[in-house]
Amino acid sequence: MAKQSDSPEMIKQALSQLALGPAMLSADAFASPLLAWYDDHGRSLPWRKKWPDLTEPYDVFLSELMLQQTVVATVIPYFQRFKELWPTVHDLASCEEEDLLKQWAGLGYYARARNLRKAALAISAEHNGIFPQDEARLLALPGIGPYTAAAIRAFAFDQPAIVLDGNVERVMARFAGLITALPELKIQLRTIYPQLAPKNRHSDFAQAIMDLGARICISGMPRCESCPLVQSCRFAHHKEAAYVPVKVKKQPKPKREGLIFVATKGDYAVMVRRPDKGLLGGMMGFPTIGWGSASEAASAAKFAPPFAANWQEVEGKVRHIFTHFELNLTIYHAHMDTSDISGDAHQFQFVLPEEVGLASVFAKVWHAVTNAR
Ligand code: ADE
Repeated sequence: MAKQSDSPEMIKQALSQLALGPAMLSADAFASPLLAWYDDHGRSLPWRKKWPDLTEPYDVFLSELMLQQTVVATVIPYFQRFKELWPTVHDLASCEEEDLLKQWAGLGYYARARNLRKAALAISAEHNGIFPQDEARLLALPGIGPYTAAAIRAFAFDQPAIVLDGNVERVMARFAGLITALPELKIQLRTIYPQLAPKNRHSDFAQAIMDLGARICISGMPRCESCPLVQSCRFAHHKEAAYVPVKVKKQPKPKREGLIFVATKGDYAVMVRRPDKGLLGGMMGFPTIGWGSASEAASAAKFAPPFAANWQEVEGKVRHIFTHFELNLTIYHAHMDTSDISGDAHQFQFVLPEEVGLASVFAKVWHAVTNAR
């Protein structure tokens, strides 16, 4: 039996010795039972329509950008709020970037929000607000990559496009008994997709695979006893399914240490707008040092407050995981009895932190400071 700590080669070796049944790569074996299951068990989501109705392309675009790296339950209220504020792509195109970032706060990966606006501007200005239907023209839009283009084609235009996220990779790799490691696996999955797909209901089909991956064919041990594909799945009731898809071993994230300075006056705190380029670009944040870039992180952060005040260290550090590194922050807090800030004061603003839309790392810091006060 392979162990999760084994190398991908060792896992592949162990998997290749299993006596898996024959591959059943047909719509009868895959799409038909899956769609029947989806009719009864598919999730009801605010952006989702069931065939023959189709989701508006704008709703697909909005939800899929939010869903990249963020779980469905978190996305739902954000999607609903965005639709209330900006019901059409024209509305989104004419919003202020600052408002958009404020509403996006908490979803993370803020480049997504800026890309969303750039794509909305292009669709509004160059396409009269109408989303193109073909892959090449979708890919030509800023912020729309192969995944989002496929999602728009499948969910909004009912095209047989493979929407390849982690859930779909897992379901299909297990069903077909594919033990190729990612990312090469994706090429194989694109090749077999047309064999598994139905003749129509492409939008339902693509979303049904996602739902099966979210509910039944989950990562770790799948719930084969409840799976509609159990009769033809090559990994059905094999405990080794937990290793599929085979993953390249992840490197541990590098750690960065930083300092963050929170000066308060009553309910107000001093914040700065971060530079457009770089981490949390364009967001409001507390002044920080030592972690903004790899080069800054390389030299140990010295206690160098942004302006003179009676800084006191707050007990306990805040830890936050970014895509490329893990951050540990030491927090300094100062009570201000004046709004005059020494030094380069024009960049500092006294704001109500809850009202500016805090990125999660700053929300954690603010929580730590308000609890310690
Ligand atoms: N994850 C990404 N896109 C999704 C969708 N359209 N439905 C459910 N989960 C998803």
